[in-house]
Amino acid sequence: MTDREQSMRQAVQEELAKRDDDKDPHRLTFHLDAPSGLINDPNGLVFFKGNYHLFFQWNPFETSHGAKFWGHAISTNLLKWKLQPPALAPVEWYEKNGCYSGSAVVWNERLYLFYTGNVKSSNGRETYQCLAISDDGVSFHKQGPVVYLPKGYTAHFRDPKVVRQDDAWIMLIGAQTESGSGAVVSYKSDNLYDWSLNRVIDETTIDGVVEMGYMWECPDLIDYGEQNILMMSPQGMEPIGLSFHNLFQSGYVVSSNNQVDLEQPFGPFRELDHGFDFYAPQSYKLPDGRRILIAWMGMSDETEAYHPTIHNGWVHALTIPRELRWNGHNLLQSPVRELSEMRSSRKWEGNLLNGMTIPYSQSGTLELMIEPADEGNDCFTLNFHDEVFLSYNKQTKRFTLKRRHLKTGMDEVRQCQLDELTKLHVIIDQSSIEVFINDGSTTFTTRFFPDERTGILLQDGVSCHVNMWVLHS
Ligand code: FRU
Repeated sequence: MTDREQSMRQAVQEELAKRDDDKDPHRLTFHLDAPSGLINDPNGLVFFKGNYHLFFQWNPFETSHGAKFWGHAISTNLLKWKLQPPALAPVEWYEKNGCYSGSAVVWNERLYLFYTGNVKSSNGRETYQCLAISDDGVSFHKQGPVVYLPKGYTAHFRDPKVVRQDDAWIMLIGAQTESGSGAVVSYKSDNLYDWSLNRVIDETTIDGVVEMGYMWECPDLIDYGEQNILMMSPQGMEPIGLSFHNLFQSGYVVSSNNQVDLEQPFGPFRELDHGFDFYAPQSYKLPDGRRILIAWMGMSDETEAYHPTIHNGWVHALTIPRELRWNGHNLLQSPVRELSEMRSSRKWEGNLLNGMTIPYSQSGTLELMIEPADEGNDCFTLNFHDEVFLSYNKQTKRFTLKRRHLKTGMDEVRQCQLDELTKLHVIIDQSSIEVFINDGSTTFTTRFFPDERTGILLQDGVSCHVNMWVLHS
């Protein structure tokens, strides 16, 4: 490690020493949240030498975006994270304005980190796709750029995701073409150092009439055998109906066939989550075969600066790791199964009647399984501490998440159309709520900041059956 990296690690240590969680009611307990300053994208989850390693975008010194570090945390259960010294600090010429997003792979007992070196100068922006290697999972040795900006693209060319497919390494890069549209550019390698241009996926390779914006960030590729799923986070899409209402989107397209080199066209773009705070998701395959998805539980929009946690020197968190499954039509998400080990003996099971508050629901860490009764009202509304409202209208089959806009204080909603509502699985961790509908075929993720926890109340609807656990925090 260079002297500059050493002194950066020291400066981060000093920043962390200022942390005071005692009077902070919004700190999350089983999610990774910003240790100090601001975090955004997850940058790789790998199992290496006995631990899960999670990397993430981090500005340790300010609650705003800036020259990003790669934060690093380890865990044995995917829920309790132990912070490590930052894996990457922006100290070299090719990354001086940030070690931007990327991914991690383990190969021949070494850990390889691929990331974007972001450079801003008076002439504009430069971008380099870089490599760092570790043998111990603690110190990372930078190898410098391995992929340079090709012709035909602007310097918005970033977020290398490296995956293994058909005995080759594929690197997917989020890009903007010189004509101002989004794309994913893929490279191929057999040694992780030498990369050759492979294929471009852009609007012309995707079915559907939807315009897909000016830049695609954070691509990912999942090989489900029969199908390839390409995930990405497009910027600049316009809302259509109930979809695409956040400033930036995250979603996926599916190719009909798993052909080598992704030669098949992809189906239409679908959103991965319908809540306010979900962006830059990335997936990872664990040694036990599970495919895990983690996203940034945030958005760089106008609400970001209004999170009350900023007064305590931090902002943002990552979602709970989710098990991802493909049922042939849809990606299904459910909280990692390890979460059930956090259920305490404080449990309530029963029928919740109209006007009733669930016992113990003033707790900040909860898991709920809710099944609305078949008969009865057209509407079903659950009120969470008078801050977040989940409702379903049986007539219109519309599901709604309502919360207060962090800047204006006005109500704001996100909605989607369901075929029916059979089950809600809700995870609350102090200032986050993640809703998994009908076995995770639809999800809503959002942050909320209750001043007081008044409890969870059935406000409309005849009744529903509830299983609720207070989780160990
Ligand atoms: C997505 C993103 C990435 C970039 C990173 C910088 O949120 O803009 O494209 O690499 O954040 O922190």
